[in-house]
Amino acid sequence: MQPSTIQQSPIIQANSLTKRFGNLEVLKNITLQVWPGEFLAIVGPSGNGKSTLLHILGCIDRPTTGDVYIMSKNTNKLTDRQLAKLRNQTLGFVFQFFYMQPHLTIAKNIEIPLMPARISPTKRRKLVQNVAELVGITSQLQQKPSTLSGGQLQRAAIARAIINQPKAILADEPTDNLDTANGANIINLLLNIKNQQNTALIIVTHDQQIAHMADRIISLENGTLQNVKI
Ligand SMILES: Nc1ncnc2c1ncn2[C@@H]1O[C@H](COP(=O)(O)OP(=O)(O)OP(=O)(O)O)[C@@H](O)[C@H]1O
Ligand SMILES: [Mg+2]
Repeated sequence: MQPSTIQQSPIIQANSLTKRFGNLEVLKNITLQVWPGEFLAIVGPSGNGKSTLLHILGCIDRPTTGDVYIMSKNTNKLTDRQLAKLRNQTLGFVFQFFYMQPHLTIAKNIEIPLMPARISPTKRRKLVQNVAELVGITSQLQQKPSTLSGGQLQRAAIARAIINQPKAILADEPTDNLDTANGANIINLLLNIKNQQNTALIIVTHDQQIAHMADRIISLENGTLQNVKI
C-alpha cells in the first residue's frame, strides 16, 4: 500500500532480510515497508517464519543479513541501548501468551515500558489509568496476573503495548488463546487505537476473518513473501 498523503516515510523499512538458525534458512531476502496507520496482516503455514519476521521487524531479534530501519534510522548502526530506547519509544508488542510478570500487579506490568524514561510516579499512575480506561481494565489494576481471565490479560497486554503511544503495534496471534467473542473484542480494540492514533498495526494471525479486515495481507511461505491482498 502506498500512502495517500504526500511524503510519508515508512515506520518500518526492512531491506533484503535473511534469517538462519543453523542450517535452517527461515527468511530469504524479505523486503517490506510498514506505513503509518496501515493494518498489515501476516499469514502463512506454521513454522514458516512469521514470528521470526515479526521479532526482526520489532527489533527484538536481529536478522542474519539485511537492514531494518525504524523511523528512517538504521538499527544496525545503533548500540543495544540506543536500539532499546528507540524500540520503547516507537513500537508496542502484544504476544500470544501475554507475558505478564507474575509477581507484579497489572498496573506495574502496564508501567514496564515507561521504566527507562524519567517520568514522575504521579504521571506514571495517570498514564496507566488512561490506558487502563481505554482497554476497560481499571477494576483489575491492583490484581496479580494469575487472577485475571485470558481476555482481561490480553487487554492488559494491549494497555502495556500502547502506554508509550507507539507508532506501530506488533501483535503475534493476539487472539489465539481467546474465545471468538473475546478475540473479536481485542481486534476491535486494536482497530480503535489504530484509527484514533494513526498507529500502524501488524498482526500475525491464522484467522482468515481477522486477516481479511486488514488493508494488506502478506503470506510467508518457504521464507518468502507472497502478496495476498494489496
Ligand atoms: N531461536 C530459534 N532457534 C532455532 N530455530 C528457531 C528459533 N526460532 C524459530 N526457529 C525455527 O524457525 C522456523 C520458523 O519459526 P517461527 O516461530 O518463526 O514460525 P511461525 O510461522 O511463527 O510458526 P507458528 O505459526 O507455528 O507460530 C521453525 O522451523 C522454528 O523451529
Ligand atoms: Mg509463530
